[in-house]
Formats: sequence, structure tokens, C-alpha cells
Amino acid sequence: MTPVLEAPPVLEARCLVKRFGRAGRPAVNGVSFAVAPGETLAIVGESGSGKSTTARMLVGLIRPDAGSVLLGPDDLAALRGRRLRARRRDLQMVFQDPLGSLNPVMRVGDSIAEPLLLHTDLDAAARRDRVADLLTRVGLRPEHADRLPREFSGGQRQRIAIARAVACSPRVLVCDEPVSALDVSTQAQILDLLAGLRESTGFGCVFISHDLSVVRLIADRIGVMRGGELVELGPAEQIYQDPAHEYTRALVSAVPSLHARRKVT
Ligand SMILES: Nc1ncnc2c1ncn2[C@@H]1O[C@H](COP(=O)(O)OP(=O)(O)O)[C@@H](O)[C@H]1O
Ligand SMILES: [Mg+2]
Repeated sequence: MTPVLEAPPVLEARCLVKRFGRAGRPAVNGVSFAVAPGETLAIVGESGSGKSTTARMLVGLIRPDAGSVLLGPDDLAALRGRRLRARRRDLQMVFQDPLGSLNPVMRVGDSIAEPLLLHTDLDAAARRDRVADLLTRVGLRPEHADRLPREFSGGQRQRIAIARAVACSPRVLVCDEPVSALDVSTQAQILDLLAGLRESTGFGCVFISHDLSVVRLIADRIGVMRGGELVELGPAEQIYQDPAHEYTRALVSAVPSLHARRKVT
């Protein structure tokens, strides 16, 4: 599906601020953006620029000191109890380390079924069918449901974490460095998988990476973070070919293949 940029956003960050400790500057300082249905917004920036802190505020793992996160029309901070749980179904996260979201002693089928148990009224047989379908959709096999996470490679484990994240058809998927721990060919496969799932289900995606060459394969728009601030935000092609901010220009020239491409165009 093509991103519907003129549609109301599925997710919006409004002037998010987060400070750890009292001294020093905030880890995230006034970050705002909106994600359209079916769109992938990549956020890039060097280590420590505030990307993960932003991601954690987006999904409600930490509370902003100021600003707000809107999921559709709803302010996440204003939701409580059952309504908050219902909204969480719409907002899922994929981490760099899939073991962070998979219980090591739980069979992967049960891990994938967990959100179905929490958020749907599917019975056990329907959940098993759905898990088999999800495993197939992420490039694994239904019989893998009975195995433990340690029986899989890093790339396969990330596929399992993605299956779990999309189990309840979220409207938004926040991915924080989802391929950074993988080798280059596995990275490309996981990016393909995410792009395919987005195509078929239409979730809006925030894709975080320190690596500008990775996001090139998946981003519709790119936001560049530095020192807790979003210093530039624009269509991917514009960021690569005509970056406005000096820091973005430095990032782009640090990627040899992009630099070469920029010169010839
Ligand atoms: N839980 C925390 N406690 C204290 N400082 C933190 C915490 N999490 C992140 N930080 C600090 O906030 C800044 C941004 O970190 P982070 O959001 O993880 O950056 P990135 O994901 O871009 O590498 C860094 O200076 C980091 O040390
Ligand atoms: Mg990080």
C-alpha cells in the first residue's frame, strides 16, 4: 500500500521532552513528527542522540516530561486501564535484541500467541491457526511453534519477534535498530520482510537506525536526530540528495555508496 500522506496521522509526537537526572541537557528535546497510515518514517542519528528514548516514549514505556503522543486522535497519556490496554494493541515495538521480547523458556508459538490471548477472544484452536499463519508470513514454518528461542538464529529470532509484534494487526510498529545486530544479508531479508508486511497490512512504521544506508531500503521520509533534537525531516530522496542541515550532509557523505550516487545525480 502507498502511504496515505494526506490522511490523518496514525501516530503523532508533539514536542516530546525527556530529561534523565536534573543536570545537563535533555536526552530528547522538543521532538515532533507525524506518521501517516502505511508510511515508514525512519529516524537516524548517532549513538546517544535520543532515538531510543523517543521510541520508548512513543510506545508508552517511559513518560515524557513534556509533550504528548497521539495514537490516532487519542492522547496516550490520558488513557488508563482497559482503554490503555486496548490502545497498546494498536502500537507495537520491535527491539534490536529479539530476546528482549521473547521469553527464553517459552515456546515461540506461545510467545506469538500471548498478545492474541491478551487482546482477542480467539479460542485455543483459532490462536494456533493464527500462530501458524503468522510463522508462515514471516518466512518460518508452522512446526517451529514448538521450539524455544535458542534453537533459532538471530535473524530467525527477529522474524519471531516481528510475528509477535504484528499478531494483533497493529496500526503502528515502532522498530528500534531491528537489524543492527544482524549480518548484512540477514539485514536485507528482515527489511524485505518488514516492507512486505507493511504493504499487506498497512501499518505506519517508525524505523530507527544509526545507519543511513539501512533506512534507504525502507524509508518514505527520514528524520535526523542530533543531541536530542530533530534537526531535519523530509522525504527520503531529499535527505539523500539535497540535505538541508550541515549534520545531515556529514551523515550522507559518510556513506560511500550514497555519496557516489549523490555526485552523479
Ligand atoms: N535510563 C536512562 N538513564 C539515564 N540516561 C539515559 C537513560 N536512557 C538514555 N539515557 C541517555 O540519554 C541520551 C540518549 O540516549 P538514547 O535515547 O538511548 O540514544 P540513542 O538510542 O540515539 O543511542 C544518552 O545520553 C543516554 O546516555
Ligand atoms: Mg538506541
